[in-house]
This record gives sequence, C-alpha cells and structure tokens, in this order.
Amino acid sequence: MIRIGVLVGAKGRGSNLVAIMNAISAGRLDGQVAVVIGSLKGAPALEAAAAEGVDTVVVGTANRTDDEYGAVLLRAIMKRDVDLVVLAGYMRRLPDALTDAYSGRIINIHPSLLPAFGGHGMYGRKVHEAVRDAGVTESGCTVHVVDNEYDHGPVVAQRRVDVYPDDTVDDIASRVLQAEHALLVDVLAEICSGQRSLPLA
Ligand code: GRF
Repeated sequence: MIRIGVLVGAKGRGSNLVAIMNAISAGRLDGQVAVVIGSLKGAPALEAAAAEGVDTVVVGTANRTDDEYGAVLLRAIMKRDVDLVVLAGYMRRLPDALTDAYSGRIINIHPSLLPAFGGHGMYGRKVHEAVRDAGVTESGCTVHVVDNEYDHGPVVAQRRVDVYPDDTVDDIASRVLQAEHALLVDVLAEICSGQRSLPLA
C-alpha cells in the first residue's frame, strides 16, 4: 500500500487533505496517509488529520537554516517510510535535500492551468484574481511533479473549469477548488492502483 506524506501550509485550510482522507475512507484510494506535516501548530489541516487519527508533525522554519529545515523535514518523512509526498497548500520552495531524495515522488496541486498563472508569488486568491483580470474563459488546476523551482516540474494531470464573464474571484476559486479535490484524488488513485508508477517522470 502506498504511504502518502502530506505537506500543508502554515495556516493550511486542509480541504485537499480532507478530500484524500475521505477518498481513503470511502475505499476509493488504496493508500494510507502516513503523516501530515505543517509548520504551525493548530493549523486547520493538522487538526483535521489528528481528528482522523493521522500522525501529525510540526516542522517550523524559525531559527533554522534552509539546510537544517530540509534535514528535519526529510527525516520526518523517511522515518515514516513515505512513498509519495503530496504538497497540498504548501507554499515554500522545497529544500533540495527533499527534492533530491524524493525525485519523482513529490507532487503539488496548483489552482491554475500551469504554466499559466504560476510561479513565485502566485498562490491562493492571487491566482484567481489574475485569472479574472486576464478575462480568460477557462481556468482549472494542475497536479505536477515537484522540482526545486516554483510550479515548475512536469505536469501529471490537469482539469479545466469554465470562467464566466460575471464570475467573482470567489466563484472562480470555489469552482477550481472542487476540481482540485477530484483531480488530486484521481491522480492518487492511479498511483495507488499502479496505473502510474513511481517515480513519476
Ligand atoms: C489549494 O488551492 C492548492 O491548489 C494550493 O493551495 C490551496 C490549498 O487548499 N496549492 P487546502 O489547504 O487544501 O484547502
């Protein structure tokens, strides 16, 4: 069974994590969330994991060099025999120690059709604001392999959603988020069933 480690953002809302855990409980995903790692105690994502009895770890960045942070993160993941790392709301560039050790085994979910509306500083609402301001008629989400550049590694899968002229940023955000949950679970189901093998290209 594939052991999944999920990295969430400091104030991680955790809706993608919850989608993964629900899919596992429903028998749609033959995998296990082995650990959820955040950087701030009390983040909703960490609480949601703990409520399901999933192991949680807080690895803070304060008072640590990038290398130290990377080493602690890597140790926490390796200790739990994680096969696949999922970034779900994780905002930082991953330390090289991790991208090197888990090459092809780290995926990220991003709320746009990359390479459009991606890169450093393009996260959360900012992405959907840029989509609305650009006047495009579609947006969506992307699961991609993580390397050491922001939103950069090979695309694994994408899902499109329509954007309508009278959409608010919130309308776009919620439509994309729903697509994210479905896409992420579908990609994980393919990995867990062996349809896609690790490491990913
Ligand atoms: C999602 O929109 C994801 O694409 C982005 O951060 C957000 C995380 O949301 N990387 P949640 O914490 O999973 O609800």
